[in-house]
Amino acid sequence: MTPLQKNTAMDMQQMKQAGDKIAVLTAYDASFAGIMDACGMDVVLVGDSLGMVVQGHDSTLPVTMEDMVYHTNIVSRSIQQALLVSDLPYHSYDSIDAAVMNAQRLMEAGAEMVKLEGGSKIIPVIEALIEKKIPVCGHLGLLPQSVKELGGYKVQGRDSVSADLILMDAKALEAAGASMIVLECIPAVLAKNISQSIMIPTIGIGAGIDCDGQVLVVYDMLGITQGKRPRFVRDFLAEVDSEATDKVSAAITDYIRAVKENNFPSEAQSYK
Ligand code: KIV
Repeated sequence: MTPLQKNTAMDMQQMKQAGDKIAVLTAYDASFAGIMDACGMDVVLVGDSLGMVVQGHDSTLPVTMEDMVYHTNIVSRSIQQALLVSDLPYHSYDSIDAAVMNAQRLMEAGAEMVKLEGGSKIIPVIEALIEKKIPVCGHLGLLPQSVKELGGYKVQGRDSVSADLILMDAKALEAAGASMIVLECIPAVLAKNISQSIMIPTIGIGAGIDCDGQVLVVYDMLGITQGKRPRFVRDFLAEVDSEATDKVSAAITDYIRAVKENNFPSEAQSYK
């Protein structure tokens, strides 16, 4: 049997050019990652959201490099095709040296791209990573690692000044060599504008239908949300036919189809 070809950052950019939507979910262990990969997920993200959904913290701030290396490693064992992206956790990219060393640790653990939060301020760090041939995914809008400065988990970019700053940050990330950008909790119209203004793919979470791809935390799309369910979450497991034998695979397949066919998110699952 010929081995499956691994998805690359270039494949994601070609998908954007072709108008093919990119499906992304988070995974933190080998079992879920294996199911996603078998279902045809384009990208699997080992998100530092694991601090909340796996470890039970109230933010992503306590997540360590050791946690990220461990989860990246176990996820990577069951992925044959999906592009594996891993988060650099809080304070792990405060300096260029720390960022390069920590990103290399994630790559050695099996990541194929690292994600870090922020715009213009972290451009030198991003340039240093690219220089070391480490592909980078940016993250703009609601930045969970800056939850204290932001005063909570709030929609970003609602006024024209902050919207312009996010658009400028997206252009700066592209110019610095980032391969993709996650847009979290921003108005759909702003995400559309950003997606049309740059060549690299945007992956939305709470950013409307016009992003080039969508990402959700896997537990959320399986109906396992602690506390209040965010507006952008859809429980795909609840929609699976009760007769289905493998309900988790069916929910993940339905999610991929909904993203590809532009049926997720709805307007009600987006912000104005
Ligand atoms: O940590 C994470 O899971 C993320 C996604 C929500 C995009 O950054």
